[in-house]
Amino acid sequence: MKIALIGYGKMGKEIEKIALKRKHEIIFKFDINNTNEFTVENLKKTDVAIEFSQPISAYENYMNCFKANIPVVSGTTGWLDKLPDIKQQCKDNNQTFFYASNFSVGVNLFFKLNKQLANLMKIVEGYDVSISETHHTEKKDAPSGTAITIAEDVISNFDKKQSWVKENAVNNTELAIRSFREGKIPGIHTVKYESDVDYIEITHSAKSRKGFALGAVLAAEFTIINKGFLTMNDLLDF
Ligand SMILES: NC(=O)c1ccc[n+]([C@@H]2O[C@H](COP(=O)([O-])OP(=O)(O)OC[C@H]3O[C@@H](n4cnc5c(N)ncnc54)[C@H](O)[C@@H]3O)[C@@H](O)[C@H]2O)c1
Repeated sequence: MKIALIGYGKMGKEIEKIALKRKHEIIFKFDINNTNEFTVENLKKTDVAIEFSQPISAYENYMNCFKANIPVVSGTTGWLDKLPDIKQQCKDNNQTFFYASNFSVGVNLFFKLNKQLANLMKIVEGYDVSISETHHTEKKDAPSGTAITIAEDVISNFDKKQSWVKENAVNNTELAIRSFREGKIPGIHTVKYESDVDYIEITHSAKSRKGFALGAVLAAEFTIINKGFLTMNDLLDF
């Protein structure tokens, strides 16, 4: 596969290592200092773009890839207000777009566990639920995209919660997501159900970025043979 990396930061560099190990070619590494090379003409020389940049530039970058008619693997978080538009473009213009708030297989297992736990917890009285996430200090968005996915899955399965809020819940129907920024932590997510007498919590803790990077390369391979709007549910057959 001929790959264009859009965003050559911590994730871009990790993806490059894994892609090369899997015998793919990195044709372009687009970053903030060579935006003049980020043209439709250049994108057309590649089979797929993997985009891990920053929330503010992500959507515009996707539009450029769509103009070149190449599939996009999107890892950037914090731009999701534009997601309905992307889905529509996949439908109307036969574009291929793979989005995951988190590409790690372990986190996607955790998503499953989270839904099952929420389903169990809704049949007992007396528990309240909250979410916390901790990441490195350079992370631009809060809460993390992964925490938002976890929160949305709790809300769809645990009927005591109707919406999520940043930091502190004002009433019982709100699900609080607390964000912490510390050192170089790649990502820790915890869901905690607490009653007067005990608490149950599940935590996923990433040891490095390798798991995210491998998932992104597997997703890129998947877009060569699968079309339309794709997610980890399509890639992983749990
Ligand atoms: N989905 C996942 O599994 C997952 C995992 C880790 C990180 N992320 C997300 O991926 C994004 C990148 O994370 P990171 O840790 O690599 O960040 P980073 O800050 O290390 O790297 C981002 C890179 O994008 C570049 N950039 C900025 N504007 C650009 C533009 N217009 N065009 C091209 N490049 C541009 C920056 O110069 C930088 O090198 C963040 O949104 C982060 O939350 C997602």
